[in-house]
Amino acid sequence: MKVLVVGNGGREHAILWKLAQSRLVKELYCARGNAGTLKLANNIPIEPTDIRTLADFAQREGIDFTLVGPEAPLVAGIVDEFEKRGLKIFGPAKRAALLEGSKAFAKDFMQKHGIPTAEFQVFEDLQKAKSFVRDFGVPLVVKADGLASGKGVFVCKTYEEAFQALDNLMAKKSLGQAGTKVVIEEFLEGEEASYIVMLNGDQYVPMPTSQDHKRLLDGDRGPNTGGMGAYSPNPFVDDAVESAIKEEVIERLIKGLKEEGIHYMGFLYAGLMLTSRGPKVLEFNVRLGDPEAQPILMRIEGDFLESLLDFYHGRDVTLKLDERASLCVVLASRGYPEKPEDNKEIRGLEGAESMKDVVVFHAGTQLKDGKVFTSGGRVLNICAWGKDLAEARDRVYGTIERISFEGMHYRKDIAIRALTKPFGS
Ligand code: AMP
Ligand code: GLY
Repeated sequence: MKVLVVGNGGREHAILWKLAQSRLVKELYCARGNAGTLKLANNIPIEPTDIRTLADFAQREGIDFTLVGPEAPLVAGIVDEFEKRGLKIFGPAKRAALLEGSKAFAKDFMQKHGIPTAEFQVFEDLQKAKSFVRDFGVPLVVKADGLASGKGVFVCKTYEEAFQALDNLMAKKSLGQAGTKVVIEEFLEGEEASYIVMLNGDQYVPMPTSQDHKRLLDGDRGPNTGGMGAYSPNPFVDDAVESAIKEEVIERLIKGLKEEGIHYMGFLYAGLMLTSRGPKVLEFNVRLGDPEAQPILMRIEGDFLESLLDFYHGRDVTLKLDERASLCVVLASRGYPEKPEDNKEIRGLEGAESMKDVVVFHAGTQLKDGKVFTSGGRVLNICAWGKDLAEARDRVYGTIERISFEGMHYRKDIAIRALTKPFGS
């Protein structure tokens, strides 16, 4: 088969790495890809959001199956375009992708269908939003309605922070159209979990559990990012928590989609806060998480493409899991997430890639004259397996010591809470 993966990041490199192990694959393509995907696939110089050109390419090249990594093409309707042309693609159509494309839509959907989530209000008027903040009190969370690559969420501990976030989004339009409407919601406390399933109508198959680390700095400080590190399994999701997530979140979502007449095919990601009052949804994403996909895919055994195709065609699927733990740390450029530096030479990659039980997935990298340079905010994902999280963690941090580029930044505390706060406590 010829398979196309749409996207440029670590998640897409990990998807290709997994697909390359499939006996069904004849040729892999990636649009646009990076210096890592180049080793596994033909990088195609088409932007992930250039939907028509991608569909033209898939038709011309006879692509048998397409997988979409990031949200932007899904929200823009890539699935509708491919399906219109009879091309097979795994992902939700535009209407279903609104669950991620509009936080206001997602919150209304959750409220309507009894899915537990933080209390909230939606605003399009700055003064009304500020007056709500005064009445509601802090802490609270301000969220841009539209897509912002994980950077449109502001956890505000003080009134000043909340007013500033609202001014930036609604008056200064720091995120353009994405922030002209905002959701203001209750601040929730607890451990986070990323719970991702493959969903096809009312059939779903859970992927391994994981936890992301959204803040830029150690100790969950600094601005939100797309994600600075992740691991799997998530020990905070024990059997009882998982049952609650299935019943109260996934199955209510499926019922709600049915009632609204929305068919969903693709990965569905529930970003959760595990509170003392049960799991609450922070957000829905209509795709695999990045960096969660990296440790998740590392824990799936067997031919994932075969499972995915079976699932796509409505057949029963159970994923066989690697019992080991996996962990991923993101190496980012100085200036990420606001203004990442570019074009720094990366040293030590080969040595890192040759380490036992380690995989290096590329994100913002490019190849120039045989050398690898940084190209974007999140640059590399250093990942490893271990008999437990502690071992995987030691391997990852040991490997990072071998790699360097100017301005390299990473979190030193990925999975630290999972190690110090053992299972069930
Ligand atoms: P989101 O994109 O909505 O998942 O938000 C990004 C991150 O902001 C989450 O992963 C949490 O770390 C944090 N966050 C979002 N909403 C809340 C909330 N209501 N309470 C506490 N933290 C939140
Ligand atoms: N890592 C969070 C996300 O992919 O949205």
